Formats: sequence, structure tokens, C-alpha cells
Amino acid sequence: MIAAVRGKRIVLGVTGSIAAYKMIDFARKLTQAGAQVQVVLTESATRFVQPLAFQAVTGVPPASDMFALEDDRVAGHVAMGRAADAVLVAPATAQTLAKLAHGFADDLVATTVLAARGPVLVAPAMETRMWLSAATQENVARLAQRGIVVIPPESGELASGEIGEGRLASPDALAAALDRALGGPGPLAGRRVVVTAGPTAEPLDPVRVLTNRSSGKMGYAVAEAARDAGAEVTLVSGPVALAVPAGVACVRIETALQLRDAVLAALPGADAVVMAAAVADYRPAETAEGKIKKERGGGELALRLVENPDVLRAVVAARKPGTLVVGFKAETGDAVGAAERMLRDKGLDLVVANDVTSAGSEFGSDTDEVAFVSAAGSERQPLLPKREVARLLVGRISVALSGRGTL
Ligand SMILES: Cc1cc2nc3c(=O)[nH]c(=O)nc-3n(C[C@H](O)[C@H](O)[C@H](O)COP(=O)(O)O)c2cc1C
Repeated sequence: MIAAVRGKRIVLGVTGSIAAYKMIDFARKLTQAGAQVQVVLTESATRFVQPLAFQAVTGVPPASDMFALEDDRVAGHVAMGRAADAVLVAPATAQTLAKLAHGFADDLVATTVLAARGPVLVAPAMETRMWLSAATQENVARLAQRGIVVIPPESGELASGEIGEGRLASPDALAAALDRALGGPGPLAGRRVVVTAGPTAEPLDPVRVLTNRSSGKMGYAVAEAARDAGAEVTLVSGPVALAVPAGVACVRIETALQLRDAVLAALPGADAVVMAAAVADYRPAETAEGKIKKERGGGELALRLVENPDVLRAVVAARKPGTLVVGFKAETGDAVGAAERMLRDKGLDLVVANDVTSAGSEFGSDTDEVAFVSAAGSERQPLLPKREVARLLVGRISVALSGRGTL
């Protein structure tokens, strides 16, 4: 278990999922690692696990009924949240996620989260269809936007016997997220990550550009997730309407040539390069010095375009051995097939494929349905908030850089 929990007060909120039993061992490990663990159970959770089991492993009686708290001088329902260094709700049911997303305060887990001063983490666990339901996904996205750390569920065999996504994250993943939230170094500590984001804009004249619909949300989410994992992040960003995440160094560019130069300048010392920018394949052959005037009665204006250099190829050619290079392939149609070709042709380590015509994955949306395509094969993901796609991607990069697996 992790070092950062030593001496920390951690509230472990356990809700009514079949996975609740797993938290007995997790609470024991947290306690053994030196944390002061206060377990808070929803009423439903007590149908799955005995409070006594938690008391036995933490040495502290769990709380459940906010109206029955002893030592409730004024504000027992919020005292635990205020005192906690971190609140982890695991497993978090669909019901509790909905409650938290809407600020309900009708049980002790909810009031504790509302009153928390420190970081709050939630680890959803439920059947795949419940997890993928629009309501749950909206609730999770809302919580993530509010700064709550969502520890994504894993794919695997569920309590029902079905195989799918929704299984509570592993104890290792819970521990790593808690560690990070408490200021631990994170899996990418000491690593440098370069991320490109947004569109490029190729000038036609002083007032007009050729550009595309990329919002930059994906690249910004990757930069944020890499920062959260402890990396030193350089974000090379085209023109977008997004705030640069705190602690991330940003180099602003407009054209594909500027983007290439900025990435190559940041490349020495980089451990991973994630190319999420939508780079123009062509640029105007020349940029007019003055504004191009409308010709009266002309009816047509022909533009001559020249090809931009392939930035991904340039990065792969210039990287030092061991630097991971990740590309993104936004396609209309067979995105996975196009990503497989791109992976081979350009010598990339991973391509994140995204069919921009599928519902929820359009340019500018907050969600994406992607597939991770590598030499090991392709792994399709369900429709997820971009922040979660980014976390998954950064998780893969962390594992690959640590030598524990491949991209
Ligand atoms: C056997 C059983 C297993 C359940 N497992 C889950 C689960 O894994 N995830 C979930 O979101 N809900 C699950 N539920 C439904 C929740 O227990 C129910 O929505 C409850 O109201 C949650 O309340 P709470 O969030 O206050 O604990 C399960 C229900 C039963 C009967």
C-alpha cells in the first residue's frame, strides 16, 4: 500500500453494491498502511456487509445513521467530511452517484461528501448497462467537472456473470488514486509528457484562416490527466477557447509548421508524446499580404494549397529510443481500420481511434467512443467522458513506461 496515506484521516464511504465486501480488505490495508480510517455506510450497504467487519479491521466503529451519531454536538453529519484529509466513496452505486451529482444530503455518505474540505474520489461499480446509461454517464461527467476524482470501473466478469465494464477498480487502482489525491508522487512522477491539442489555423490573408472543428478538449484532458499522474507536461496548443490546466506549461501555436517546430523543440527529454491536435494536411501556397478583396462579378476564387509536413513522422524519426508516441485518428467511418494503417505506416506505439460520425463522438462533444489500437490489437471502449478516456490513456502510458506492460 501507498505511503501518502500514513497518518491521514480517510473517510471510506461504502454504498449498496455487491462489491461492498471488497472494501473490508481495502480498509484493512489502509489501516495497516497507517491511515486513520472512518468507514461510513449507506443503509443499503449494511445489507451487503456487516459494520462489525469494518470495525474489526479499522478499530473504529463505522457510522451509518446521521441522526444516531454520538458526540453530535452541533454538526455530526458534516464533522467527518470536514475532518477528513480525503473521502473515497467505493464502491459508488448509480444511486449514490446520482445523489452526489445533484447535491442531495439525505444520508451520511452524501453529507460527508458535501462537507469535505479535501479531495473526494468516487469508484463506481455496477452492471454494464447501468454504468453506460446516459443518466449515470451524465452524473459522472458532472462530478468530474466539479473536480471529484472518478476512478473508472474496469472491464471483466461482473456479479451477474456477464462480462463487461462496471467492475469496481482494483485495490491497486484505488490506492494509486488515493495516493495521488493526497499529494503522493503519482505513477508519472519524474516523467515528461508532451501533448498537442486543438486545431491548426493556416492563414489565407491577414484576417482569414483555414482551420477545422477540433475543440482541443481531448488534448487538454490528456494534459490534465498526465499532470494529475505527476508528469511534467508541455501542452502545444492551437487556438481554442479552453483554460490551460494549472501547472501545465503551454506553448501556443497557429500553423502546422509552428506546431511541428514546438513539438520537436519539446521532444528532447520527453518520455511520451501524445498528438491529439488536428493538424491541417494542407496550407495555402501563399498568404496574401493584404486582405483578399471580393472581385465584382468574378464568382470564383481558386486557392492553391501545398501539403504540410507530416508532424507524426517527424516526431517518430526524431525521438530517442523509449519515447512513446501516441497518435489520434478521427475518421468518418472505419476509424479502427484507419488507425491500424496509421500505426503501421508511421511507426507509432498507440493510436486512439475515434469515429467522429458516431453519436456522442462528434468534434466538440464532451464524450468519445474510442478504441485503443496498438501492435497488441485493438480495444474498444464504451462512450465515455473525454476526461475518462484521457485517464485511461494516461494509465496505459504509465504502465508502459514502468515496464509493467505495453501500450
Ligand atoms: C443484490 C444486489 C446487488 C446490487 N448491486 C449494485 C451495484 O453493484 N451497483 C449499483 O449501483 N447498485 C446495485 N444495487 C442496487 C442498489 O443497492 C440500490 O440502488 C440502492 O438503493 C443503493 O443505495 P445506496 O447508494 O444508498 O447505497 C444492487 C442491489 C441488489 C439487490
